[in-house]
Amino acid sequence: MSNSLSGKKILLGVCGSIAAYKAAILTRLLVKQKAEVQILMTEAATHFISPLTLSTLSKRSVISRFFDDGHEQWNNHVELGLWADAFLIAPATGSTIARLATGMCNDVLAATYLSARCPVFVAPAMDLDMWQHPATQRNIQLLKDASNQIVPVGNGELASGLNGPGRLAEPEEIMLFLQQFFEKQSPTKQQALKGEKVLITAGPTYEPIDPVRFIGNRSSGRMGIALAEAAAAQGAQVSLVLGPTDLRPASHAAIEVVPVQTAQQMFDATVQRFPNATIGILAAAVADYTPLETSDVKIKKKTSDLVLHLTKTKDILAHLGSIKTAQQRLVGFALETNNEEENAHKKLVKKNLDFIVLNSLRNKGAGFRHKTNQITILDRHNNKQYYELKSKEAVAQDIIQYLVHHF
Ligand code: CTP
Repeated sequence: MSNSLSGKKILLGVCGSIAAYKAAILTRLLVKQKAEVQILMTEAATHFISPLTLSTLSKRSVISRFFDDGHEQWNNHVELGLWADAFLIAPATGSTIARLATGMCNDVLAATYLSARCPVFVAPAMDLDMWQHPATQRNIQLLKDASNQIVPVGNGELASGLNGPGRLAEPEEIMLFLQQFFEKQSPTKQQALKGEKVLITAGPTYEPIDPVRFIGNRSSGRMGIALAEAAAAQGAQVSLVLGPTDLRPASHAAIEVVPVQTAQQMFDATVQRFPNATIGILAAAVADYTPLETSDVKIKKKTSDLVLHLTKTKDILAHLGSIKTAQQRLVGFALETNNEEENAHKKLVKKNLDFIVLNSLRNKGAGFRHKTNQITILDRHNNKQYYELKSKEAVAQDIIQYLVHHF
């Protein structure tokens, strides 16, 4: 699958923040993606992380001054600015953000920023009060207005001991941000799933009790439908096995919709198509139990209670996990209310998945009946990625990007 950073020339600007150590991880990830990395550091950054570490990882001398002592060499910020395909400033401190926003060029990093013609990505890192201060927010807005890309800050424990927004985004999140930006830019890279056959399940299932009643659930199918659209937009041929819902994907020649009603029908349609698929993404909310018997006629009201005997349905995802080949990729979902990560991890292993998308009903705005979702991805290499609350369409793109870049 494609790698939008391969061969890209990246300037990585590092500022003086506790989070500067993450620049080392970022450099490694960029080099792993076959990007060329030139590091620029502010004077303050050199107190937090050694230039030697970063020059060793990037395989290039780090630049932190206009002039190199003793070498009579001038680091030409104009050349640097023109060389780069992207300028990533991570971590970007409140002070550097203020300098960039006002056009000050009192060090080589800020001067290169003014010379750069490439897209600039700013990944802020600071304490929560600094981040929320109107001055910082004004500066961020100025940077946005000047067409810079701001990587969303993380939320959590800060170096000060406070808790809240302001953390530097995790290196993996910054990488994804960059990759997604370049994929949107380059029409050829939008076809990262060209040649792939993606099988998706979505929506609820209805388990009939009699001709008018059923056991169902509140799934709308929106998440799986968005996945079908996102996969098709990346060039995949998609089969969408869709439970009873009025929603449909936007018409696309590459999406085949297979409507089903019951868990058994979904099982049959999915298992039949899986050998022909390269990727399976099972997002449906399949009933775990179905009535043992379905009455052909409407069940009449009686004076006594009605007891329904339910029998277990087949687990489609677990079945696909047991038959998948080494070439096939399999992705599942986990909807949890407690011990979320532990339960999701158990499902990942038990059902032999490449990764699992966890959504917790404890997160406001996530799960059924919402147009938004907040997910965490856990994969079989023990990687974990947290995402913020987004529209289901944006979440679908994140999931497809994860697939493209990690498997
Ligand atoms: N799934 C499936 N077939 C089933 C049940 C679930 O394919 N009969 C798939 C779902 O599409 C989802 C994943 O399995 O991708 C997890 O479903 P979930 O209901 O959360 O997990 P279960 O294994 O059913 O466990 P539990 O209900 O106990 O949490």
